Parts: sequence; C-alpha cells; structure tokens
Amino acid sequence: MSTRRLVVDPVRPDPASLRIAADVLSSGGLVAFPTETVYGLGALALDEASAAKIFAAKGRPATNPLIVHVPDLAAARELASDWTQAAETLARAFWPGPLSLVVAKAACVPDLVTAGGPTTALRVPAHPTALALLQTLGRPLAAPSANRSNAVSPTRGDHVLATLDGRIDLLLDAGPCSGGLESTVVDATEWPPRLLRPGLISPAQLSAVLGVEVARGPKSLHGPLASPGMLEKHYSPRAKLEIAPDDGRLRVAQHLAAGAKVGWITRGETSGRTDDVSPRLYQLDLPAEAAGYAAEIYAALHTLDAAGVERLVVAALPSDDDWLAARDRLTRASAE
Ligand code: TXA
Ligand code: MG
Repeated sequence: MSTRRLVVDPVRPDPASLRIAADVLSSGGLVAFPTETVYGLGALALDEASAAKIFAAKGRPATNPLIVHVPDLAAARELASDWTQAAETLARAFWPGPLSLVVAKAACVPDLVTAGGPTTALRVPAHPTALALLQTLGRPLAAPSANRSNAVSPTRGDHVLATLDGRIDLLLDAGPCSGGLESTVVDATEWPPRLLRPGLISPAQLSAVLGVEVARGPKSLHGPLASPGMLEKHYSPRAKLEIAPDDGRLRVAQHLAAGAKVGWITRGETSGRTDDVSPRLYQLDLPAEAAGYAAEIYAALHTLDAAGVERLVVAALPSDDDWLAARDRLTRASAE
C-alpha cells in the first residue's frame, strides 16, 4: 500500500480533500488526521473489520481500547448505554476539546474497539479539520494516536509518515497540532469521576466544573487495567531518555565524556552556552511555560531521534499540576 498525502488548510480544509478522506474511511480504509492534541489514525468505529486494521497498522495489542471520536454531544450519547451526569457536565464544559470520557458502551460499539470491556472512551475534538472530517463522514471514528505502538505520538504530518508510511491509505496533513499532548482521559462512570490519563485539561479545571475533586490513581489492584495506556513504558523515543534532577548539565557532560551522541532538552534557557559545545551535543530549548512546552515536546523527541542521539537528557520539570501531563509522558518515556 502506498500512503497518499493531502495537504489541507487547518482552519478551512478544502471540501474535496475531506470528501476523498471520508470516502476512503467509508470503504474501510485508514486515514491519519490532525486533532488539537496529536494526529489520530482513524477508521470506522462501528465497523469491526475497519477498526481491526488500526490494531494491525499500529502493532497495537488487542488489550488496549480505542478512543471513539464524534462530531457533537448528541452523537456521543448514542454510543453510551448510560450517559451519566458527570459525563454531561464535563462534555458541556470541555467539548469540543482535549477530553476523553469513559462511559458504559452502547451495544453498537464493537468489543474490539473497547478491548472487550463494558466501557468506551468518547471525545469531540476541537481541531477544525477533525470536526469537518467527522461531519463529512457522518459516522464515528475510532482513532488512537497515529504512530506505531509505544512510539512517540505525532504532532506533524512527517511524524505520522515516519512510522506509518505504506501502512495506511491516506494522511490529511494540516501542519502542526497546537496542543501537543494526548487528551485527558476521565472515567465518568463513577462519582467522583476518576482521572485515568493526565492531559491538556488539568485536574483543577475538571474539579472546578464538577464541584468535587477528581479521583486519581488506579481504582483497584485487581481486575483489568483501568487504562492500558497507563502502562509504565510508553511514548518512547529510540534514545535512552532520562529526566535530570536539575537542568541536566552534569548528566550531559558525563554522557559526552563517555563518547555518546547526546540530546538535551532544556526549558527556557538562553542559548549560547559555550562551556558545553561539542559536535556530539544536540540542544533543543523549549518554552518555559507548560502549554508551550506541551506543544513542542513530541516534535523535540522526534527531531532528536532523527538526529540519531543515543542519550536524551531532559531538564527537570516543575512539580505543579500544570506540568502533570508532560511529566507523565516523559516519565513513561524514561521507563526501562
Ligand atoms: O488526544 C488523544 O486522545 C488522541 C487523539 C488522536 O484523539 N488519541 C489517543 O489515543 O491518544 P490512544 O489510543 O493513543 O490513547 C487512548 C487512551 C489509552 O490510554 C487507552 O487505554 C484509553 O485511552 N482508553 C480507551 N478506551 C478506554 C476505556 N474504555 N477505558 C479506559 N481507558 C480507555
Ligand atoms: Mg497513543
């Protein structure tokens, strides 16, 4: 299979391109498309044979359920057998947006999509191209991040093709994703709702709307995994990644002294360090505030991987909740 790439304007995607993408999906194909978080790999959610292709293309274990994307709240309710007050409140506050709500699934959602479980994760994305595609298609789209399983999620069209070229039918390329980290996943079947995966919407934002603190951490040590994407090792670049206890300068120097090619991700440092210059050092400086950092961190990991670094040192991140999602992803990326 060769992968076709259609470049579209992110805000006003051309209807002819959307029609082509919708036709590929309707006939059971795979289309990568932009969302405000990361690129998704879409297939018809309610058609088991189509959704199965996602698992094959990604090399994704059948135990990891998919997020189903819909154009609006009404379409979400149709996929739930029990639409709770928590789901209604959170959906009204944050949709369209980077929040996935786990609810009891309706019978029409295939077991394959939910990994055999009784619940399904639903989301209305805010990206104009994603919304326009869902409206043109008129059917729900299952879409995990558009990368091979366990690799770094894509925030640019090139990142998608880096691991999925030849494995998917089409890429709708609308340039960089503005958010940069995957959606917040919340279990809305229980009260108080439980945070399953931190994301661009913070626990404080959720709690403010709910009027109660969201629960955190695993529900119980028994039974199936609450959210398989929370597996310890995930979101990994090829290079061995470590989060430094400080700005990372010492670790970088040690790796350089040992002869390694080193990537160094700093946070709001001014460039022009002269003491550490080495042709084996690749420093990328990211914004010092959380939203700007989130938007660029995956692109930085992709860039440093492409440069062939062996060691990746990330300067310590602040410990407050604004940084929860970035700390979560980088900690998983650093897992052995
Ligand atoms: O921002 C996003 O969420 C992106 C874009 C494309 O929408 N999608 C994404 O999908 O990150 P994926 O497959 O990479 O991550 C889905 C996460 C996983 O952690 C999965 O375990 C969890 O959602 N999930 C899906 N269905 C679930 C369910 N029924 N119960 C608990 N967790 C679920
Ligand atoms: Mg993913």
